[in-house]
Amino acid sequence: MAYDGIADLYASMFSSRLETRPFARNMIGTFAELVRATGNPRVADVGCGPGHLTAMLHDLGLEAFGFDLSPAMVAHARRTQPALRFEEARMEALPVEDGALGGVLAHYSMIHTPPEELPALLAEQVRVLAPGGLLLVSLFGTEGPEPVRFDHKVTPAYSWPVDRFAELLGGAGFVTFARLLHAPASERGFLDTHVLARRP
Ligand SMILES: C[S@@+](CC[C@H](N)C(=O)[O-])C[C@H]1O[C@@H](n2cnc3c(N)ncnc32)[C@H](O)[C@@H]1O
Repeated sequence: MAYDGIADLYASMFSSRLETRPFARNMIGTFAELVRATGNPRVADVGCGPGHLTAMLHDLGLEAFGFDLSPAMVAHARRTQPALRFEEARMEALPVEDGALGGVLAHYSMIHTPPEELPALLAEQVRVLAPGGLLLVSLFGTEGPEPVRFDHKVTPAYSWPVDRFAELLGGAGFVTFARLLHAPASERGFLDTHVLARRP
């Protein structure tokens, strides 16, 4: 996986990023509060990268663990967050029982998934969530009717019209109840987009 070669570099660039990203930080805070209110504190950080947000979820009172398909990212996360559990796994096939989780966080980790593969990936998140469980997806947002493929520094990625993404969430069985779009996002002009959905 492309992230394997840059796990330490990625961590040095992004592990403290939310300190200067109040919208993202507070969306995760809101997500954590809503998950705690479900009474099920178990949360998966899917595509967790170096594990800094898994640690943030833990600090917010949740029983958080992380999954990533990149062995180097998982190794980095285990090294820097030794008290937390990290496993190599694909978001498309999580080693989690049906209905086990109160929440799933996907912070810029679904950006690399080709649009045609997203329905199955989202259905997997529905599977692992308990009824009432929450999903917070952060991604690049764009105008226009269709997702836009672009050459991300690591591996190709997609930015999404938020309505199209919410449609996919609905198709997978989620109810989207909050969206936050804001600048600056990136030099490419995408909006930072955060979507909160619930499994009914
Ligand atoms: C942009 S990084 C985001 C990492 C972290 N969530 C963050 O916000 O810093 C994307 C991460 O998602 C992981 N990833 C991408 N596709 C994945 C998949 N299908 N299953 C599991 N992990 C995936 C990559 O290995 C990488 O660590």
